[in-house]
Amino acid sequence: MKGGKASGGLVAVVDLTPAQAEAELARLASEIAHHDRLYYQQDNPEISDAAYDALRARNAEIERRFPDLVRLDSPSRRVGAPVAGGFAKIIHARPMLSLDNAFDEDDIRDFADRVRRFLKLEARESIELSAEPKIDGLSVSLRYEKGKFVTGATRGDGETGEDVTVNLRTLEDVPAYLKGRELPAVLEVRGEVYMQRADFLKLNASRKTKDEPPFANPRNAAAGSLRQLDPRITARRPLRFFGYALGEVVGGKVGDTHVHMLDRLRGWGVRVNPDTRLCADVDAALEYYRDIAARRARLAYDIDGVVYKVNRFEWQERLGMVSRAPRWAIAHKFPAEQARTRLNAITIQVGRTGTLTPVAELEPVNVGGVVVARATLHNEDEIRRKDTRIGDTVVVQRAGDVIPQVVGVVLNERPKGAKAFRFPDHCPVCGSLAVRAEGEAARRCSGGLTCPAQAVERLRHFVSRNAFDIEGLGEKHIEAFHADGILRTPGDIFRLHRRTREIEQREGWGAKSVERLLAAIEARRRISLERFVFALGIRQIGEATARLLARHYGSLGAWRKAMEAAVRHPEGEAAQDLDNISQIGPSMVADILAFFAEAHNGATLDDLAREIVVEDYVQPKTAGSPVAGKTVVFTGTLERMTRQEAKARAEALGAKVAGSVSKKTDLLVAGPGAGTKLADATKYGVTVIDEDAWLKLIGE
Ligand code: IVH
Repeated sequence: MKGGKASGGLVAVVDLTPAQAEAELARLASEIAHHDRLYYQQDNPEISDAAYDALRARNAEIERRFPDLVRLDSPSRRVGAPVAGGFAKIIHARPMLSLDNAFDEDDIRDFADRVRRFLKLEARESIELSAEPKIDGLSVSLRYEKGKFVTGATRGDGETGEDVTVNLRTLEDVPAYLKGRELPAVLEVRGEVYMQRADFLKLNASRKTKDEPPFANPRNAAAGSLRQLDPRITARRPLRFFGYALGEVVGGKVGDTHVHMLDRLRGWGVRVNPDTRLCADVDAALEYYRDIAARRARLAYDIDGVVYKVNRFEWQERLGMVSRAPRWAIAHKFPAEQARTRLNAITIQVGRTGTLTPVAELEPVNVGGVVVARATLHNEDEIRRKDTRIGDTVVVQRAGDVIPQVVGVVLNERPKGAKAFRFPDHCPVCGSLAVRAEGEAARRCSGGLTCPAQAVERLRHFVSRNAFDIEGLGEKHIEAFHADGILRTPGDIFRLHRRTREIEQREGWGAKSVERLLAAIEARRRISLERFVFALGIRQIGEATARLLARHYGSLGAWRKAMEAAVRHPEGEAAQDLDNISQIGPSMVADILAFFAEAHNGATLDDLAREIVVEDYVQPKTAGSPVAGKTVVFTGTLERMTRQEAKARAEALGAKVAGSVSKKTDLLVAGPGAGTKLADATKYGVTVIDEDAWLKLIGE
């Protein structure tokens, strides 16, 4: 997704308005966090690495173009996922970095050139590189103090990981004591925990006999095995470890180069990968890559590429890092593996966030050693773009990914009479309308609060801290209550008191804890309008937008009435009024109206109204503000503040900030370069002032 080209039905970044960009960044932040949780905490991803990378790339591209809009919770500020409950946290003494990826030889030559330029090396000075297999396991940090293994942690978000010391102690490759001389007082060894292919297959075969679900691949098996709360289970799993980098080191000598350091580690008893090679220059490194690629199937473990590292530590130090990845290392990934097979059917899966994903049901085929029977077709546009039809021979690709994908159709093998696929416009799970917002590739179920596929996620959001803030009702409980039918809709939360006895009898619950939960629920029978709007979990409606809506409409009744009118008359006044709220873009309007267009959602609101009280919006104190209640529009270049600041300031003083000039506008603040809005203001007789006059007016 490079340059400004639109891809996958998305609006090109160069064409995004700030409001659209802000909305999309909000959506990406929550979507990426969701996938991070699935990947890092549940070892159960639902999208391919490629699709995930595309989300991150899009986020980065929008942030580059709109640096003012970078969120505090932006995915670009994090690596991986926050730690899950269950394990204690360990703050890494040095952050655990990730690697930049490269996919072809040119990328690697560019990497070497960048290193050369950065270090200002002469052309004849060659850059020695250490080349090592890139094992797809999970990275951990082992801390040795005076040679004794004291703590071991997962990477977590790169800053803080999970304390899996007791589990790591069960690995044969993790020595309890280092041996030999010149041991540093503190030595942190970073490396990969992984499972060999043969062990993985054996483990899955034995799980099958016990009716346990198999692991998708060795990486998931390794992660799932290490992150067991009971170390006895980890001990029974055939986990291995290779060391390949250092964290904190105090005292002692680790050598001047990476390869020296690996030798030292080996001498002290740490396992290092015997397939690591020192390469004299980038050509030798690329030869290593070709050699390993040819031997790949014969290696005992799965690898997804090669890692190159600048060998000299002094150079590594000078090169440093940029946004969580070292400048001195790069991962050279293998191209994906492909195979052809028949597409038997297309089914639709509804994700926890309501996305309808088309899934290819395939004639099982071996793709690089793994039998694949299902693959993602991504979305509606991709099916249309490739003209994928049931009965077609398709090309399936697996790229070290969890989820294989259909990447092409063999058109000359199409059976006669194969018909184009019609993407459903209703959710196959709950039957609600499935809508596609402008500029988005995904079609989503609008059943929201009532769709069983989304219920748990929606309820989790509903009770989350910035929504209803009900303590003690975590995801695990919601899942269990939902499965048993005690909790299906938001209204059910406020009826849980009728189920006291049932809950008390559940494992992990007692009279005291149930009492606490019910008290937490009772305390939330009154809620502010903005929290309530946010709690509904309407797509793209984050806290800030919920506040805007609350401020604009004042009460739940007024909002609902206006939204229902807007649904009935999409061109009418209520729809116009919603559209005119500054910072609410057309795709948000579409999502809000899709919510109200669903009868289920109306019923959910009615049901909630019987249980709770939603308080009217209370205007922040703006007494004495000269602009309270006034509708203000900003246009042209502002020189003393950003547009966002100006809006925030105006709103804090009780003004409504609109995006366009209409009869209702009270004031236009026009900077240099103002155009049509200025003309409109003249047309409607709206007062026009410049930035200085505005600042004076608000007393700044
Ligand atoms: S070096 C700066 N070396 O790849 C040090 N990583 O994509 C960063 N990995 O998080 C890591 N084999 O889990 C390094 N020989 C190797 C590796 C390797 C596998 C993994 C590791 C890392 C990820 C980054």
